[in-house]
Amino acid sequence: MPYYSDELIEEVRSANDIVNVISDYVRLQKKGSTHFGLCPFHNEKTPSFSVSRNKQMYYCFGCGAGGNAITFLMQYENYTFQEALQTLAQRAGIELPKQEMSGRARQEADRRARILEVNKAAAKYFYAQLRMEQGQNGLRYFEMRGLSLETLKKFGLGYSNKYSDDLYKYLRQQGYEDELLKHSGLVTIDERGGRDKFWNRIMFPIMDVNHRVIGFGGRVMGEGEPKYLNSPETMIFDKSRNLYGLNLARSSRKHYILLCEGYMDVIALHQAGFDNAVASLGTAFTPGHANLLKRYTKEVCCTFDSDGAGVRAALRAIPILKEAGITAKIVRMDPYKDPDEFIKAQGADKYQERIDRAQNSFMFEIEILERDYDLGDPEGKTAFYNAVAQKILGFEEELERNNYIEAVAGKYQVGFENLRKLVMHQGTRAGLARESRTLKSGISEKKKKEDGMKQSQKLMLTWLIEEPDLFAQVSPYLGPEDFTEELYRQAAEIVFEQYKEGRLNPAGIISMFAEEEQQREIAGLFNARLKEVVTPAEREKALWETVIRLKENSISCRSKHLQASDLEGLQKLIADKKRVQQLRSERHMLK
Ligand code: UTP
Ligand code: MN
Repeated sequence: MPYYSDELIEEVRSANDIVNVISDYVRLQKKGSTHFGLCPFHNEKTPSFSVSRNKQMYYCFGCGAGGNAITFLMQYENYTFQEALQTLAQRAGIELPKQEMSGRARQEADRRARILEVNKAAAKYFYAQLRMEQGQNGLRYFEMRGLSLETLKKFGLGYSNKYSDDLYKYLRQQGYEDELLKHSGLVTIDERGGRDKFWNRIMFPIMDVNHRVIGFGGRVMGEGEPKYLNSPETMIFDKSRNLYGLNLARSSRKHYILLCEGYMDVIALHQAGFDNAVASLGTAFTPGHANLLKRYTKEVCCTFDSDGAGVRAALRAIPILKEAGITAKIVRMDPYKDPDEFIKAQGADKYQERIDRAQNSFMFEIEILERDYDLGDPEGKTAFYNAVAQKILGFEEELERNNYIEAVAGKYQVGFENLRKLVMHQGTRAGLARESRTLKSGISEKKKKEDGMKQSQKLMLTWLIEEPDLFAQVSPYLGPEDFTEELYRQAAEIVFEQYKEGRLNPAGIISMFAEEEQQREIAGLFNARLKEVVTPAEREKALWETVIRLKENSISCRSKHLQASDLEGLQKLIADKKRVQQLRSERHMLK
């Protein structure tokens, strides 16, 4: 596989105007200096997907997808970096050399790309096996589970046959070397040679949101242990940041996501028309999953198994979802085991009814709590209400507390006033709850401040990128080191460097970061939403306020970490403090 130099990559990228490239895929409309369209990466009705000709970048204010022309093709067409570059080169009539050397970062990106390639090749292999003589067992099993041919195709389901090294042999034949295969998680290699991890199983390729195969789950046909085998985590497979089915669910028209436990549940639901179902990958639900979901939805309906493990999974997921700002609801499957069985027995309409009657997550938690108390006994009943009151205290807003008091009072036939008094009583008596509340709001205060600071740093970078004249004004006061977020600082360093050399190139900066997650964040950095400031004077004020805020934050960070022996650092700190004071007085922004 060819390696390309950074210069060449840049040449190819800049030879393609991003508005033209994206216009081939998305209908764009010009609004001021920016083009807008419906985001191809999430479902929306009003355009929040922006493409900037000046910046040569795209960014979606809805889901946060963002990058340059290269990353767009990687995301949209599911291309590897090389494929995207080749497409753009062709588009611009640039001939790419066969072989070039490059730096470390590029090599790492290549390694990732190659592991993706191996996974893709394996998925194709398993897929083909299922349709051959030796795959008949697998095909029959899927049939027995009620999956249509269309569904098999949609999920790329496949079969690993009885031989325990034939995938290995196949991949070697395709030219992939042992060293690479070892890192793919698909084979193990020792002195005796290579052995497949998966054999005699039906295979579920696991895809990331861009439809790239990043790993596999393999199920035994019938009984057997372990029931499912999953790819180990690799450079490209992070189980706590990917969800099975999200590549499809992300473009569902439904406003909520159905979260279930198993691969088979996701597939059965999609087949029944619930194209918004996802599942975690044989692991518990994590904050990483919640943050991923947050890009696509504000509401998640948990539709877990009916057994104890399913209830525990729900109790675990609820606070994680809430923390991410997602509304959680619970869909009950009883008397059936899981969504797959429910749908088989009752059909899609009945399942939809269950969704429509999904339970508020708090009420679900209360219902589970109830099991620990004997409500037939006055003492048990009192203890239960006390526990409920304690839980209600967890809501910060009085209105919200009252709404829950009302709901619980209605359900358990206890007077609203009685329960409200109990809640208030608990709130003051122990004092503990209140303390933990202020503690909690103290934390959220701090978090708000941090978020505000991040936002200011973003704003400044966006400003610098969008209005090149500002650099000369701001740079005497502000340096890259004043950006205290690590990734922001790295980006700022490059921006400042490019300014000094007189060749600002924001879209090029994106390609300097290897990870998709970083590229996306950098695109976000250069696309902070600038407030619509009306007058030049207001804008001027906002700019200098931001400069001062960043500088003061950086001073306070530095002074926290200053070593007593670091005289030079101390002197710089004092000088900086003075400068900010001066700036404040010049700008009439004295505290
Ligand atoms: P389930 O046992 O509920 O599986 O485990 P399922 O998807 O409903 O499969 P069927 O219907 O029995 O065929 C739920 C999920 O937990 C993970 C898998 O991701 C599975 O889909 N799991 C389960 C494992 O990773 N390993 C196992 O051995 C079992
Ligand atoms: Mn099942």
